[in-house]
Amino acid sequence: MSNKMWGGRFETGPDAIMEEINASIGFDYRFAAQDIAGSKAHVSMLAKTGILTEADAQAISAGLDQVKAEIEAGTFTFSRELEDIHMNVESRLAKLLGPNAGRLHTARSRNDQVALDFRLWVRDAIDQIDSQIKDLQKALAERAKQHADAVMPGFTHLQSAQPVTFGHHLLAYVEMLARDRGRLSDARDRLNECPLGAAALAGTSFPIDRNMTAAALGFDRPTANSLDSVSDRDFVLETLSAASICAVHLSRLAEEFVLWTTPQFGFVRLSDKFTTGSSIMPQKRNPDAAELVRGKTGRVIGGLNGLLIVMKGLPLAYSKDMQEDKEGTFDALHTLSLCLAAMAGMVRDMTPDTQRMKAAAGAGFATATDLADWLVRTLKMPFRDAHHVTGSLVKLASDRNIGLEALSLADMQTVEPRITAEVFDVLGVEKSVESRTSYGGTAPSNVRQQADTWLKRLG
Ligand code: ARG
Repeated sequence: MSNKMWGGRFETGPDAIMEEINASIGFDYRFAAQDIAGSKAHVSMLAKTGILTEADAQAISAGLDQVKAEIEAGTFTFSRELEDIHMNVESRLAKLLGPNAGRLHTARSRNDQVALDFRLWVRDAIDQIDSQIKDLQKALAERAKQHADAVMPGFTHLQSAQPVTFGHHLLAYVEMLARDRGRLSDARDRLNECPLGAAALAGTSFPIDRNMTAAALGFDRPTANSLDSVSDRDFVLETLSAASICAVHLSRLAEEFVLWTTPQFGFVRLSDKFTTGSSIMPQKRNPDAAELVRGKTGRVIGGLNGLLIVMKGLPLAYSKDMQEDKEGTFDALHTLSLCLAAMAGMVRDMTPDTQRMKAAAGAGFATATDLADWLVRTLKMPFRDAHHVTGSLVKLASDRNIGLEALSLADMQTVEPRITAEVFDVLGVEKSVESRTSYGGTAPSNVRQQADTWLKRLG
């Protein structure tokens, strides 16, 4: 039997393989709520503009409510023969109302319908991801405040560079996540135009009111070009780009957890809730959740790459290739949501070992810059000369296998006779971080203030 929705000129139904490759109901059933909300807005507009009678519109609207209730109750049977969510809903409506149900599809097409459903779905997903990112920011800012003065090594090239505070390090991620939220919010602003009424690609001859449907569905305005309306998936691409960047941020933090929880670093202990053991090595505590956050980043970026490749060769307007826009997006955004939740859990539960961090902070001549700065400030040396003198002092200490602060004043004076005992004031790691009060610097006083500002902002 040919398809009831579009099979007027067809004599036979599709091959089984055709049905399998063509159907999207296996995944676009997720659009049920959006699809019905869109149909309800459409039908009430059709009545207001006199395109349908009030009576027909009301019957259709009530029928849609019933379909919605059946789906929510789990009593609705989705059928692959009916291809997608749009035709599954409409076909059930026809069973409930008879031929009058067919009036719902006046002045629209599945092309603007799916564009609408997907926009509504992505808009909700953005809102959910945003609140999860905010929660992670809060967790990080709370821990940052708590450890505003915990000294740890700061790294460049993963070599000890200068001491920083653990709080400062955590707040760096709060900043990154703030940019992620900004990008999502920009994407949401551009997304928020309603494609409904573009119909198949050219608009319609019916006197529809697109402003009315746009407003009813919470959009700022209708989309301006019907061809663009049905062929645009920028709103997904932008969201997936922002999601990918966010996933990369989570992956970097995850990598730090992996490093910090090794016995070699020993900076952080993750709770039992977020670690696993080894079935053969009893001593192991593996940071699986962090590793998985790092690994799952590949899937999020894969979702973005996949859709960019689907879209790159498509002429205007709709092509069925675009049905491939959904699964990767669902997976990517679900994955990001899971990673955000796992990361917030790890951050809230972790126990930093501030003693070990502090001990490591002094290793590798991490206060050499403080020494050079002292020479500049006290002896008025040009920084380049001070750098050179400090290099000689580091060599001296390194040859003797001791830290800079363990050199005697006499030893130091063999390199630069004008050095005085005051120099020892800047050689401790705590003094070092306390002195870095420049705006955005790592001083505990700064970190405390920044953490407070964030906590207030995050509410
Ligand atoms: N299931 C389709 C999709 O996801 C809906 C739009 C179908 N449009 C069409 N002209 N066949 O893209």
